[in-house]
Amino acid sequence: MDRPGAPTFPPGFFDRFDEQPDDVFYAPPRLVTHLDDAAIAEVGRLYRELELDGELLDLMSSWVSHFDPPPARLVVLGMNGAELDRNPAATKRVVHDLNADPRLPFPDDSFDAVTCCVSIDYLVRPVEVVADVARVLRPGGQLVVTFSNRCFPTKAVRGWLATTEAGRVEIVAAYLDASGGFGPTTAQLRNPGRPGDPLYAVWATAR
Ligand SMILES: C[S@@+](CC[C@H](N)C(=O)[O-])C[C@H]1O[C@@H](n2cnc3c(N)ncnc32)[C@H](O)[C@@H]1O
Repeated sequence: MDRPGAPTFPPGFFDRFDEQPDDVFYAPPRLVTHLDDAAIAEVGRLYRELELDGELLDLMSSWVSHFDPPPARLVVLGMNGAELDRNPAATKRVVHDLNADPRLPFPDDSFDAVTCCVSIDYLVRPVEVVADVARVLRPGGQLVVTFSNRCFPTKAVRGWLATTEAGRVEIVAAYLDASGGFGPTTAQLRNPGRPGDPLYAVWATAR
């Protein structure tokens, strides 16, 4: 996945404390939220603002996808089938381990937008996954990545744990740049100065 001029990541960056296959950690359903209510509302506001519409894919999904209102067609992909079954916005559910196989099980040009909320820190081959997101997006489709300041620390990659919130924004932008599949990234702290969970967003349009 090396491209001249693309960002590179140091040795050990993608190591994790828990190197067991992900289906061990994600076997029990976790029907919890990973953001406070205000940050969840901010995710929905961002999706509305970006006018995400059409055929959508929520990557690394669970029982909530934060669209408000829910889209007409939403494929959710995650590790736990019981969580995905409870997702009321989903019209199709796919269990797939992106760390075992970073290729998405969808044809080229399948989606108008792809979202990934509070989860990109768990990917050990994120540049390959993001490059494949560009493949399944229709031209002009957006990838929207959101995150906060919490995680499952044993499953997040070491490079993520070792840096600051601003550093994580740089990491996500570097994943998109290194993939070669996207135009310039936009990054924002969506709720500056507000109490509660910070909500960062990084997004870009497929080339
Ligand atoms: C912190 S939860 C976030 C769930 C949801 N996106 C949300 O906003 O609440 C992390 C999610 O990442 C998914 N995930 C973790 N590792 C994964 C992998 N290797 N492949 C696919 N999904 C993964 C899990 O299924 C889990 O639902």
